Amino acid sequence: MARDWARVFASVVVIVLAVGSTTGASVLEDMLVAPSDFPSVHAEKLIRELNLFPKELDVVNGRDGVGAGGDGKRITERKFVFPNLVGVDSGVSVEDLGHHAGYYKLKHSHDARVFYFFFESRNHKDDPVVIWLTGGPGCSSELAMFYENGPFSVADNMSLVWNEYGWDKVSNLIYVDQPVGTGFSYTSDKRDIRHNEKGVSDDLYDFLQAFFEEHPKFVKNDFFITGESYAGHYIPAFASRVHQGNKAKEGIHINLKGFAIGNGLTDPAVQYKAYTDYALDMGIINQAQYEKINKIVPACETALKLCGSDGTVSCMASYFICNTIFSSIRALAGNTNYYDIRKKCEGSLCYDFSNMEKFLNQQSVREALGVGSIDFVSCSPTVYQALLVDWMRNLEVGIPALLEDGIQLLVYAGEYDLICNWLGNSRWVHAMEWSGQKKFVDSAEVPFEVDGSEAGVMKSYGALTFLKVHDAGHMVPMDQPKASLEMLIRWTQGKLSSAAEEDAVRLVADI
Ligand SMILES: *[C@@H]1O[C@H](CO)[C@@H](O)[C@H](O)[C@H]1NC(C)=O
Repeated sequence: MARDWARVFASVVVIVLAVGSTTGASVLEDMLVAPSDFPSVHAEKLIRELNLFPKELDVVNGRDGVGAGGDGKRITERKFVFPNLVGVDSGVSVEDLGHHAGYYKLKHSHDARVFYFFFESRNHKDDPVVIWLTGGPGCSSELAMFYENGPFSVADNMSLVWNEYGWDKVSNLIYVDQPVGTGFSYTSDKRDIRHNEKGVSDDLYDFLQAFFEEHPKFVKNDFFITGESYAGHYIPAFASRVHQGNKAKEGIHINLKGFAIGNGLTDPAVQYKAYTDYALDMGIINQAQYEKINKIVPACETALKLCGSDGTVSCMASYFICNTIFSSIRALAGNTNYYDIRKKCEGSLCYDFSNMEKFLNQQSVREALGVGSIDFVSCSPTVYQALLVDWMRNLEVGIPALLEDGIQLLVYAGEYDLICNWLGNSRWVHAMEWSGQKKFVDSAEVPFEVDGSEAGVMKSYGALTFLKVHDAGHMVPMDQPKASLEMLIRWTQGKLSSAAEEDAVRLVADI
């Protein structure tokens, strides 16, 4: 450990020298606010009181209180209809709708409750079960639910309008607020705060077991894990946890078929190194700036080697060191939205997500969901900071074992995202060592066609597919809703790599 520190300290000195004009102290200060990265700390407007220690716990979801499980059950779930849902008055019942909101009292916790939404498929109950995880770390999955691939979006007048391309058109779709402290999830005991992927993936696995116990008719369906951004960490860890549980015949067998990572952070050593290349290619920085910022790379790489997949002090150090690469580019990019370099960064999180907050804080909505007085936390700075030690760890290491067992991996990336850019993602996917590596690398890039035009380009071999999505930033389903629904349909049916347009299944009719 002492030697780690010495090398890390030397790296910090190198950076201070490389960056030049600033003192060590101010470099560190800059970096502490610069995590800036994923929807996070600087999102003051969106961030309300933390849900780690709510003042009132007398709220109700079921009759026994939020996730109380008075009858010994850990899940308390209700069917509901959102108020102001456009077009629902015309004869659709709560039963028909199959929309559920629930709390799960975490098995391995002192007092933690995880909130989730479950939307039964608009098409067929036999459709796959798909779980979505938003990143941050610490951002609520409701961001995706209302702005990317959920059943509906929030209109300015607070009506909910059906999303023609919601992923619930072809899947039974779950959104979880996790880790605890995010969204409507909460705990009253700080020992329940998670600091690593073991904690995160064990909780998700326990949740999934309880979910399938509550919904036995979905156990036989295919199951897929999806998500975005920091979920590039959660997803491989969760997939490995499920696979391991299946192999050990632990609990209910989960029919895990695949996992998809959208604009994720999975292999930091490869992805941090790609920042300057992407920024230069896209004209965000010039050659001189490129060379100057690249001087930080060797120190970042040294720190990352020490961090590996399970380091501690070295991982924290590498977070601060490597993020100077990103924050330097960000400073030069000015007001550019680092989730979509075609746009300006406006408002907190670089996008305006205020309608979601307004909507979820309405009394009628809270009553429908049964969340009582629990605050809704879009992005929790406490959860974010608790995972800093996890940030730079390499999550690619567990993936080859899953591929070898035939579990499908789709890595997709919108081409205009800087923060988790396609270049870094493409590089780690190509560099990953597994039995199909050579064939994957040698395989031809083919168009991903939707409606007769190229919506992206992809490469595929065996269980692995990489897809670069055109005209999209960090949030692909928000920018390219139709293409992303097509991607989900073809991928879950094993037809994505065959690329044939006529294979695409007709979209089902609106409710
Ligand atoms: C609210 O806006 C939506 C979408 O623009 C529209 O369909 C709906 O009719 C509006 N509702 C009211 C009450 O104005």
